[in-house]
Amino acid sequence: MASSSVVKLVVCLAIMAMVVGGAPLADALTCGQVSSSLAPCISYLRTGGTVPAACCNGIKSLNAAAKTTADRQAACNCIKSASKSINGINFSLAAGLPGKCGVSIPYKISPNTDCKSVK
Ligand SMILES: *[C@@H]1O[C@H](CO)[C@@H](O)[C@H](O)[C@H]1NC(C)=O
Repeated sequence: MASSSVVKLVVCLAIMAMVVGGAPLADALTCGQVSSSLAPCISYLRTGGTVPAACCNGIKSLNAAAKTTADRQAACNCIKSASKSINGINFSLAAGLPGKCGVSIPYKISPNTDCKSVK
């Protein structure tokens, strides 16, 4: 039954290709990750009050995920464009947010941040 072995091999290779091709790149930070991490922060960024725990967790995980200069610049660019697209953000609240979460982020959450100088 040589032909059935070939079929099995092809099916097996196809499954392997799907698994490998579908695996997320562990160290590339996407804007989707950035905006979903920051989504719980939006109500705080508009009106202040208490920082939701989910927001701090998002910022912390974002900070932990951005290990290289390229990651931090990518995250910075995503935050910058996200902060432009969300209406009503109070940027003085935004500037203080990482500190409220006990995290230090090497750039400001602002639409005017210069992400090229982020190291
Ligand atoms: C932004 O938040 C700060 C601190 O709560 C507040 O003093 C300031 O008035 C707010 N600015 C705007 C534009 O809402």
